[in-house]
Amino acid sequence: MKEIDYIQWQPEFKTGIDKIDDGRLQFIKLHNQLVDIVNKEYCNQKIVEFLYALIHYAEHHLLNEEICYRSFDGLAEHKARHQTFVNTISEIRNDIAEKNSVKGCEKLLLYLNGWFHNHIMQQDKEVLNTVKHNQDNAL
Ligand SMILES: [Fe+2]
Repeated sequence: MKEIDYIQWQPEFKTGIDKIDDGRLQFIKLHNQLVDIVNKEYCNQKIVEFLYALIHYAEHHLLNEEICYRSFDGLAEHKARHQTFVNTISEIRNDIAEKNSVKGCEKLLLYLNGWFHNHIMQQDKEVLNTVKHNQDNAL
């Protein structure tokens, strides 16, 4: 598997919206916990607990984000992407329960790393730019 390193928090990750920033920080912590789990080969012992924390994150922070994005025209499409995230996590969780948990952990880490770079850093960023632009114009 491609080596995946920790994501280090960068000042430019801050959006100025506390709930979104809390979500980003929490996502990075979860990502980095999974890097540790994979690197230290703790998958069998730690993955169930990790999945609980990840699902808790998804339930709270994706919803908070959708509330912040309510003025965004493409909200339905964005919500569908969040639903794909939740569904993918659920599929990987089933894989882990039924098959090889080490492979499942690696697959999950690849998925979370991709989600950070493709969704949080790109798709969320585009929405946030639009939402902020709408707010500025409404003033
Ligand atoms: Fe999002």
